[in-house]
Amino acid sequence: MAAGELSGRRIVLGVSGGIAAYKSAELTRLLGKAGAGVDVVLTEGGARFVTPVTFQALSGNYVWTDLWDPRRPANMAHIDLSRAADAVLVAPASADFLAKLVQGMADDLLTTLCLARPRAGIEGAERDCPLLVAPAMNRQMWENPATQRNIEQLRRDGISVLGPAAGDQACGEIGMGRMLEPEELLEEVVAFFQPKLLAGRRVLITAGPTQEALDPVRVITNLSSGRMGYALARAAQQAGADVTLVSGPVDLAAPRGVARVAVRSALDMHGAVMQRVHGQDFFIAVAAVADYRPAAAQGHKIKKSSAPLSVALAPNPDILAAVAALPDAPFCVGFAAESRNLDEYAEGKRRAKRLPMVVGNLVQDGLGGTDNSIVIYDEAGRHALERAPKEELARKIIAHAAACAGAWRERRGALPGA
Ligand code: C5P
Repeated sequence: MAAGELSGRRIVLGVSGGIAAYKSAELTRLLGKAGAGVDVVLTEGGARFVTPVTFQALSGNYVWTDLWDPRRPANMAHIDLSRAADAVLVAPASADFLAKLVQGMADDLLTTLCLARPRAGIEGAERDCPLLVAPAMNRQMWENPATQRNIEQLRRDGISVLGPAAGDQACGEIGMGRMLEPEELLEEVVAFFQPKLLAGRRVLITAGPTQEALDPVRVITNLSSGRMGYALARAAQQAGADVTLVSGPVDLAAPRGVARVAVRSALDMHGAVMQRVHGQDFFIAVAAVADYRPAAAQGHKIKKSSAPLSVALAPNPDILAAVAALPDAPFCVGFAAESRNLDEYAEGKRRAKRLPMVVGNLVQDGLGGTDNSIVIYDEAGRHALERAPKEELARKIIAHAAACAGAWRERRGALPGA
């Protein structure tokens, strides 16, 4: 997650009564670190698990517990807080709290605030203040038909339900009903605010280095960290796409909601991509694929000797070129990491591989780091983007690809034999 992904956002974090409330203290900190202003509202039950003092210290703001709190000039915290918020997130949302939401009850500050929040489409509502809930409860309570009915109704009412997850429960039982972890909830909130530019689209991405075996313990590889490819997978997923990430060996967790296929060599990556490419709308080749592999991998460890050692190398298949040449090729985005002459090499690559879009960067600017400077090359020319964290660049690349793909498909569809 890049710092500032929620900057300028104001979130009401509602905490109802459940043991998972202790995780909401960490969530408050994470939301603040991502740049959001957080107003915490505790129910009476929530305040039994974690005190207002904890949330006040972590959010740096007053904490609200009482519908009759006189600290607001007109004594209407339920109106003021929701009018200032970009979203209300209730985490944990207890079974009781969810039932109250379904019934439209308003018997404390949090329920009243949820009912009173502005919703787009209502006459006079200047803004939409969406509601997200993160259920947390014992598995029997979760599976109970009453709760399941309530969840269905909440979804129908346009409320986003985040989780729950399955696993160990505080009561000692194991099953569905654990609240998502604070980091997962933060990812869900960041994703919630992203425009769904790729809704319903399928995106295949390669990322990371490949490893080409010399013998059972030695490989030829490169310094790619995989960060740019992983950031793109995350951005595409958050833009609403169904994302498959074919990844070489890297030290990164798969982004939330992304299906990862782990591979090692260029040949493995080629096979994994070719097996999955049909039906994809986009193919984004970010992997730093080794251009060559040892012509013959040794079955046993190469023994040291004082004589020079030469290794014959065989070229690897160009995965991107192979995909771009398919009759039903998706919209292909290539990457060009160069050490000089970026414009000439990157645009040259775009034309040679017949790609609608190439993202170029100078290796000294980005390889292995968290930030990068990039230039996008497409049919319309060159578009330089300001130096920024890879997460931010990833969103811009996805937006650019989404914007170009429509016209590209139309042109392609018009070609004879396409
Ligand atoms: O030609 P070059 O290797 O510089 O092109 C880089 C682009 O091609 C990147 O998008 C990279 O992921 C892709 N590529 C590939 N298979 C290869 C080599 C590069 O998909 N064997």
